Amino acid sequence: MNKKIAVIKGDGIGPEIVNEAEKVLNKIGEKYGHTFEYTDVLMGGCAIDTTGVPLPQETIDICLASDSVLLGAVGGPKWDTLPGNLRPEAGLLGIRGAMKLFANIRPAKLIPALAGACPLKDEITKNGLDLVIVRELIGGAYFGERDTHVDENGVKHASDSMAYADYEVERICRVAFDMARKRGKKVHSVDKANVLDSSRLWREVAHKVAKDYPDVEFQDILVDNTAMQLVHNPAQFDVMVTENLFGDILSDEASMITGSLGMIPSASLGEGSLGLYEPIHGSAPDIAGQNKANPLATILSVAMMLRYSFDMSEEADAVEKAVDEVLADGYRTGDIMSEGMKCVTCSEMGDLVAQKI
Ligand code: IPM
Ligand code: MN
Repeated sequence: MNKKIAVIKGDGIGPEIVNEAEKVLNKIGEKYGHTFEYTDVLMGGCAIDTTGVPLPQETIDICLASDSVLLGAVGGPKWDTLPGNLRPEAGLLGIRGAMKLFANIRPAKLIPALAGACPLKDEITKNGLDLVIVRELIGGAYFGERDTHVDENGVKHASDSMAYADYEVERICRVAFDMARKRGKKVHSVDKANVLDSSRLWREVAHKVAKDYPDVEFQDILVDNTAMQLVHNPAQFDVMVTENLFGDILSDEASMITGSLGMIPSASLGEGSLGLYEPIHGSAPDIAGQNKANPLATILSVAMMLRYSFDMSEEADAVEKAVDEVLADGYRTGDIMSEGMKCVTCSEMGDLVAQKI
């Protein structure tokens, strides 16, 4: 098969990690007889520097005309003082919105070889951790009305509104329940229904959807309790579905239990097969350009691309297996390094995974 991939390398470590992911994809192409055609497009800080805006229209057009989009990371201190709508992050939100990617899938799995990098006690993680956070991606506080103003007394005010419509909650809940059916058959719907109206709507709709999935165990859980339960008994979770901001926060927390933020891939999906694939970590400007970054989350994002956008599950399995094997062989980037392991660079890690395929 021939697939067109729009590539947003982005800022900081973005280009380094995406290069390794392309290396792995090319190896898959060779082995399974596919060709992957890459078109580099600008988004984030590099787009601001070249075009003045974080998300040029050309980037949106090319992404929409592709079979899928691969993204490294955007942002950095250089652009931190720009107004909100001109920051690199606005580009990321813009592309998620323009592609109507409402479902962000973030799997967090404790890989046995990395158990040593997990900061929790063995007695907490002895039952493992294998959960998926299904994060709503184009609603809530990220996309609600916002305002900053100074009132007549010189007091400065700022607000962001967390808004949801019933259909937005329903479609993301369905993604979560469908996913649970293919996994552990358990869904936790995470909200703050004891305080927020948007969460009360969320809960009402989640219950309605749950009725269509009698074979899936379903439970509501408050977001603060979820944050606590994640470090108390992470094995209880299978699929967690939640709104945008809660999902952002909980996925960083879950990632740390797997050993490093550098290990978690993500898929952002809409109604069709077109998706955007990116690691959940950021652009790590402090180590950019030093060939030190961990490319595994991006490589694992490519596995998700193969599975969800291209329907190539055998190829996806091959990538995931290669990553497991390289880790089992003791190779580590700095972020997941522990005693007795072999520390490798970003490009060496990419080479190792590609060789295993
Ligand atoms: C993520 C990131 C983004 C988000 C930022 C960079 C806008 O933290 O993908 O989790 O908050 O969605
Ligand atoms: Mn985040």
